[in-house]
Amino acid sequence: MITFKVQAGEVLSDGAGGNLHGIRMDCGGRGICGKCRIIGTPPAHLAPPTEAEKAHLTAAELADGHRLACQTHFVGPAEVTVPDASLDPAAALGKDRLPPVMTPHPRVVRCLLHRASFPQILEGKATGLLEWVAKRASDTGTPGVRFRHLALAKQLSRPGVAEQDLTLVVHRHRGVSTVWPGHRPRSLGLAIDVGTTTLAVYLCELTTGRTVASLAGLNPQRGIGEDVISRIAHCDRHSKGLETLQGLVRDGLNRLMNVCLTRAEVSAEDVDAVTVAANPTMGHLLVGLHPHAIGVSPYLPATRRFFPLVAADLGLDLSPNTPVEMFPLVSGFVGGDTVAAVLADDTHRCDGATLLVDIGTNGEIVLGNGGGLWATSCATGPALEGARISCGMRAVPGAVDRVTFESGRIRYHVLGDPDRPPLGLCGSGIIDAVWALSQAGALGRDGRFDPTYPGVVCNTDGMGCRFVLATPGRSGSGAEIAVTQHDVRQVQLAKAAVAVGIAFLMDRAGVTRVARTVLTGAFGARFDWRSAVGIGMLPTPEIIGSVQPRDNLAGVGAVMALIDGNRARQVHRIQNGMQFVEMAGDPGFNTRFVAALALPEPVAPDPANRGQ
Ligand code: FES
Repeated sequence: MITFKVQAGEVLSDGAGGNLHGIRMDCGGRGICGKCRIIGTPPAHLAPPTEAEKAHLTAAELADGHRLACQTHFVGPAEVTVPDASLDPAAALGKDRLPPVMTPHPRVVRCLLHRASFPQILEGKATGLLEWVAKRASDTGTPGVRFRHLALAKQLSRPGVAEQDLTLVVHRHRGVSTVWPGHRPRSLGLAIDVGTTTLAVYLCELTTGRTVASLAGLNPQRGIGEDVISRIAHCDRHSKGLETLQGLVRDGLNRLMNVCLTRAEVSAEDVDAVTVAANPTMGHLLVGLHPHAIGVSPYLPATRRFFPLVAADLGLDLSPNTPVEMFPLVSGFVGGDTVAAVLADDTHRCDGATLLVDIGTNGEIVLGNGGGLWATSCATGPALEGARISCGMRAVPGAVDRVTFESGRIRYHVLGDPDRPPLGLCGSGIIDAVWALSQAGALGRDGRFDPTYPGVVCNTDGMGCRFVLATPGRSGSGAEIAVTQHDVRQVQLAKAAVAVGIAFLMDRAGVTRVARTVLTGAFGARFDWRSAVGIGMLPTPEIIGSVQPRDNLAGVGAVMALIDGNRARQVHRIQNGMQFVEMAGDPGFNTRFVAALALPEPVAPDPANRGQ
């Protein structure tokens, strides 16, 4: 649940189903789905309900201020409460969870200069207005005061401006980025995590190390394609494809950023620095680099290190010269988000061997053993996030998020309200389901259903088998909720990709077990790792050591680099020290991959104990 304040005239949707406040808008804001329920207080400050609101809400609910976010308008200031069930799935994934307070060592500071008169008589070294202002700022002890932007020179050259009270925004390495008239001491930064599926922004105080607001939303590029390959293909096929995708992510980020600024009651002019953690393709699209070369062998990014960038390069609604630091890439498929996750976890400085497994639409795996860092990527596909699964859905209330095999029966748990009928299966549910069906004996080692198992239904030709979790009469959608043969195959492909990636890295690092395994990513921190071990996605507990699920390490790393200049200095060391392990070119890859597709032997095939 989240609560925030709105003003008269404000709306909660951009009119196109855009997510302005982390509220889910399943029907694109058309008043059809009824999923965007909120509560506005006081009810008198809400406009009269629309027909869509009357259709979805009772008279008593409407009188209490219950409304649909996509429909409602405010006629006076109000407080809005968004129940968990109405939160955007990205928010439900924990991407916008506030990182811990960090000790600040900012690279950007604000230097306040008091009104002063330019000396009438110059003695000794000649100077100019800019040099005079820079000297006064340096005399306060502020490091790095240099002017490099013509726009600032133009600003300070206007009559009397250089002699007024001034606030200089000074980056230790890049010099002065902005000059504000008067004294404006508040200094904030923005950390951004750009994922294939979700975007997240974190607004942080650079002077205290505190994150004051954060918000996650779905990446608007999803409408063009679920994975990076389809977005690269879009850029290849359409002359304006790159511009379209860049515009979508830019607008999505600006929307999230503006909500954070409103919630924290600050302005864009208070933001002095930006860090961005993105996977390679998302980073290219954000900056406007064509990702074509990432999509074809040998999968090269345009550059592994982005140049010093400013907010204007990305189209962010900030002061144009605000410095932007993009995390560098390791390869065409291991990007700045992985480097950020390593920074946040300290994988590069751990004594014992550590496995970092980031599972989202793509999977990245890093192994660090104190002596080195090895990384690889694997095509897990969107199945583990509930996409391309016949009854797949995101991890929102109504999703089956747990499936178990207990006392001879397959049981399931529904996210949110366990008593409500299920709407579909999310990623953790589908992994659990495959593990539970394997244990039950409904699935063989090759992943095929046993057509004689109770609950397994096959077409008349014996093909197209599926296991029915909920019949149409028992599901919340009125449609059957089932695990199909195709779903099982998708999970097999994803789990084999992760398993082989881990095996390759362990071989390359020369380790046979690790001290700990960190699970992160949009999906990685959200599933039951025991089920992943069960189906062979992860090695056995003796090999993977202690398992630590960590929400959104890439976002935490972006915040860390923003707030702590000492940590930021480690970023390039991590990038340089990480060896990319290319699996596809290895002669043993195919054999290992095929072997990794197999599911485990059923553990309880007792015929007397088979049942749903
Ligand atoms: S988004 Fe569907 S009813 Fe509001």
